Amino acid sequence: MSNNFQAVKQIGYGAMGLEGYYGASEDEAAIKTLAYAIDKGMMIDTADAYGGGHNEDLIKQALMKADKKAFIATKFGLVFEEDQTGSTVDTGWGFPLTINGTKEYVTRAIDNSLKRLGVDCIDLVYAHYLDPQTSLVETVSAMADAVKAGKVKAIGLSNVTAQEVIEAHKIHPITAVQYEYSLFRREAEIDILPAINRIGASLVCWSPLGAGFLTGQVQQLEENDFRNNNPKMQGENFTNNLQRLEEIKKVAEEYSITPAQLALAWLVAQGDNIIPIPGSRKITRIDENLQALSVNLRPETLAKLNEIAPVGAFKGGTLV
Ligand SMILES: NC(=O)c1ccc[n+]([C@@H]2O[C@H](COP(=O)([O-])OP(=O)(O)OC[C@H]3O[C@@H](n4cnc5c(N)ncnc54)[C@H](OP(=O)(O)O)[C@@H]3O)[C@@H](O)[C@H]2O)c1
Repeated sequence: MSNNFQAVKQIGYGAMGLEGYYGASEDEAAIKTLAYAIDKGMMIDTADAYGGGHNEDLIKQALMKADKKAFIATKFGLVFEEDQTGSTVDTGWGFPLTINGTKEYVTRAIDNSLKRLGVDCIDLVYAHYLDPQTSLVETVSAMADAVKAGKVKAIGLSNVTAQEVIEAHKIHPITAVQYEYSLFRREAEIDILPAINRIGASLVCWSPLGAGFLTGQVQQLEENDFRNNNPKMQGENFTNNLQRLEEIKKVAEEYSITPAQLALAWLVAQGDNIIPIPGSRKITRIDENLQALSVNLRPETLAKLNEIAPVGAFKGGTLV
């Protein structure tokens, strides 16, 4: 792992699910879960837009409860306040996002995250998405200014192209790139991961459990579940993808581990700079997920997983 992540475990904790996107979440339990993850030495991943600022508020409370020093990563750029505007970005999920990456917006968003989190400096700040109407130079320079001002320690990008990673790194060192990466969606291997490796950054993998799909416990979704928007979890795609998952589950059985642990162990086996950030509302699952760090997959198992789930194997369009 790069020096920036020496203080944390290679598996982090994604806090988005504490906002009810994949089912109801209670604040009191969420704060305990966050404090538990902090004390386990996991990087906490959030975004100002998660719950419209509420997720960062929860983290502030967890920081007061936790015994250990935390490593917090947040994101800006996804417009969530009614008085803010931005550019429209299509996601392929049936609804667009509004993104703002102007210098003014970046500065304001980072200041607001500092206040909500109740910290003087944020360990890592990502541009959640790049704003198509604002130059990459303007956005990344504004982030670099926040580093110079002592408000942010390191910067990252999320949902970007390989070329954008390289261009941004010329303006200011990019510590991490966040992108969806798991056996469920391996497209990052095509060109983003090589670019990340080239600049010596880390790939922080969002939805490392395929938003729960790879755990084998998502067979049917509730009506208000956000994952209904994911083409991989709709109709025939969902049925076919569940069939393929059965092969992955058999591999987990061979190791006497859970499918979630196999999915995370596979990611960790891809390189020291690959940092999965699984999310869970349950403390027991934090332990389960962390145990994946002690699973060593044999080369023949990795080869078998390549056969079962090569790039593009799981059907359905993807976000960004
Ligand atoms: N940059 C971006 O654009 C972006 C996009 C999406 C996500 N993210 C980040 O990535 C993080 C993780 O992604 P994600 O939450 O979408 O998906 P994920 O971590 O792949 O999966 C989360 C789901 O898996 C379940 N789960 C977790 N551990 C489990 C286990 N051991 N056994 C069974 N089920 C388990 C959780 O349910 P329970 O809560 O019931 O345990 C939850 O429904 C987010 O929290 C967020 O921080 C970033």
